[in-house]
Amino acid sequence: MTKATETKIDLKKLDEIIIKNKGKQGEILNILEEAQKTIEHQFLPEAALNHIAVQTGVPLSKIYNIITFYSFFNLKPQGDHTITVCRGTACHTRGSKALLDDIGMLMGGSKELEDGEPSFTTPDNKFTIRTVACFGQCALAPVVAIDEVIHSHMTVTKLQKLVAIVAKGGKN
Ligand code: FES
Repeated sequence: MTKATETKIDLKKLDEIIIKNKGKQGEILNILEEAQKTIEHQFLPEAALNHIAVQTGVPLSKIYNIITFYSFFNLKPQGDHTITVCRGTACHTRGSKALLDDIGMLMGGSKELEDGEPSFTTPDNKFTIRTVACFGQCALAPVVAIDEVIHSHMTVTKLQKLVAIVAKGGKN
């Protein structure tokens, strides 16, 4: 299990990213995006953000504003696989709440999700469960994405089967 505080940051790599983007349009956004991709479990630990702030001269408060504005930035470690359950109206009326409840219970994160947390990552960092407002595929409701793959007309049974396949290293 990797906790945020245990994550090792490759400062050399981080400096390369900072130098590469220096003076370019969208400098800080690019640095943060590239940094997140290179850090284990795809997130931006505090130490990395402090280093970026010092090296770029961009105040830490501004960096946090950017990170919290864009949903693709993560402040917590992400799972190897991401299950995204659509919570839009069409999906809700076709049972997405039951899918979220079931997957939350299966992964042990139902409390976090019920409390309104936008995502939950299993302690072993294998899965992250998150929600989305709408995939734009309402006719296929309820919709769930596993990693980059969109699945339509999802059921609890189908979702459990897909999760079991992915957990064993298979393709969904
Ligand atoms: S409401 Fe789920 S895809 Fe639009």
